[in-house]
Amino acid sequence: MADLSINFAGIKSPNPFWLASAPPTNTGYQVMKAFDAGWGGAVWKTLAVPVINTASRYGSVNYKDKRMIGFNNIELISDRPVADNLREIEEVKKRFPEHAMIVSLMFQTKEEWHQMVRDAENAGADGLELNFGCPHGMCERGMGSAVGQEPKVLQTIVEWVMEVAKVPVIVKLTPNITDITVPARAAKAGGANAISLINTIQSLVGVDIDNFVPYPIVDGKSTNGGYCGPAVKPVALNMVKNCAQIPGYDLPISGIGGIETWRDAVEFMLLGSSSVQVCTAVMHYGFGIIRELTAGLNNYLDEKGFKSVQEIVGKAVPNVQPWENLNLKYNIKAEIHEEKCIECQLCYTACEDGAHQAIGLRPDSRIPYIIKENCVGCNLCSLVCPSEGCITMERVDDGTEFLSWKQMVAAGDSPTDFNDPRAGGINHHYNDPDSALVKSKPLHYKSKETETVAEV
Ligand SMILES: Cc1cc2nc3c(=O)[nH]c(=O)nc-3n(C[C@H](O)[C@H](O)[C@H](O)COP(=O)(O)O)c2cc1C
Ligand code: SF4
Ligand code: SF4
Repeated sequence: MADLSINFAGIKSPNPFWLASAPPTNTGYQVMKAFDAGWGGAVWKTLAVPVINTASRYGSVNYKDKRMIGFNNIELISDRPVADNLREIEEVKKRFPEHAMIVSLMFQTKEEWHQMVRDAENAGADGLELNFGCPHGMCERGMGSAVGQEPKVLQTIVEWVMEVAKVPVIVKLTPNITDITVPARAAKAGGANAISLINTIQSLVGVDIDNFVPYPIVDGKSTNGGYCGPAVKPVALNMVKNCAQIPGYDLPISGIGGIETWRDAVEFMLLGSSSVQVCTAVMHYGFGIIRELTAGLNNYLDEKGFKSVQEIVGKAVPNVQPWENLNLKYNIKAEIHEEKCIECQLCYTACEDGAHQAIGLRPDSRIPYIIKENCVGCNLCSLVCPSEGCITMERVDDGTEFLSWKQMVAAGDSPTDFNDPRAGGINHHYNDPDSALVKSKPLHYKSKETETVAEV
């Protein structure tokens, strides 16, 4: 059994799964319940200045039969008295000394920051997370993402905190910025011990088209909120990777954004996260998901022969390259495994209308076939195919050649105009535009019986 414990910038945790600072970490009751269920750590709901929350405060994106694939909130930070929070943090820490207790903070003046750093440490915090990410409400008061978007201000506040902090300090970054590496560098310049990302993405999740108000609705009005949940995972993964690839960057990264399964967590780790944080999935399914998260991670590590979580951190980072370094000689083509085909013809429609007209239909069968000479290996058909493993992408080059755009340019061998035979699309098949108006049958059809191809 692999070792799931981590030491994140000096914060020890029995496993890498932490609750993100959010409603599930609002009270001692919840955090104790979570630790008891198996969560390794928790980032307490952000302590800050007094606030008032609205009703309602959440919106969601539902897709087909799946609810909350994206989640949106206009909630502010903790609205409970700071003294109550600190007392409960202390109680939880006493009952669970081995678990990671990180306290999230967001203040304005240097004096407030200093006071709260000391208070949180006195309550037993193992680490502090500075919330420079909240994209609504608090930014209008000069905090949250208003700080995260100003690298100089961010660095100054980190410096204030580092003047007094005795426990590791994590800076939580906002994704509402063009280049995430800029605040990541500022956090390091300010002396932070680690970074975490992403906080929520500024968003409107939808509009009530009968009453002309976006969601969530507060007495007939709305405001932009913060987007999270499974839908934001790709954005978060890319930003985590961007930080992990900063040359010489040695701050540990806590990955956040759309993590719901152990696979999601592993992906974040492979791209550079040493711990992961979860909010929406717990708000949706409860603390119990930790069983599947830890068991799944354990099995994965065992099956791959890894002894600890640390061994997989960043393993996929070198494989993310600038486009110009990819092998242009690598060639794949789609293949349909007829025995798995459910004859829906979604692949045909997708390739016919949305790709390269490389899938044909037969007059005597509903199973499509690949027109190999037209296929550019784009992958679309295998993505739309609802039958697992029915369309695979098969390598057709012999694997001996490597040529990247960068190499072509360096050798002075890149295409110079659109008629250049080295240009990408020059040898591809394109149907005659007029043939689009022939309605009676598909442009290509091949009889299963005779294997003869008819061009219309
Ligand atoms: C309702 C709600 C409240 C949140 N409150 C906070 C907060 O007080 N402090 C903070 O740093 N992040 C807060 N977040 C952001 C989460 O900690 C997390 O960064 C974000 O939701 C992405 O993770 P997820 O996709 O797992 O939800 C909140 C998120 C939600 C949904
Ligand atoms: S999408 Fe897949 S299952 Fe549907 S027709 Fe194409 S190959 Fe068959
Ligand atoms: S890989 Fe792309 S071009 Fe080839 S058949 Fe599929 S959709 Fe068409």
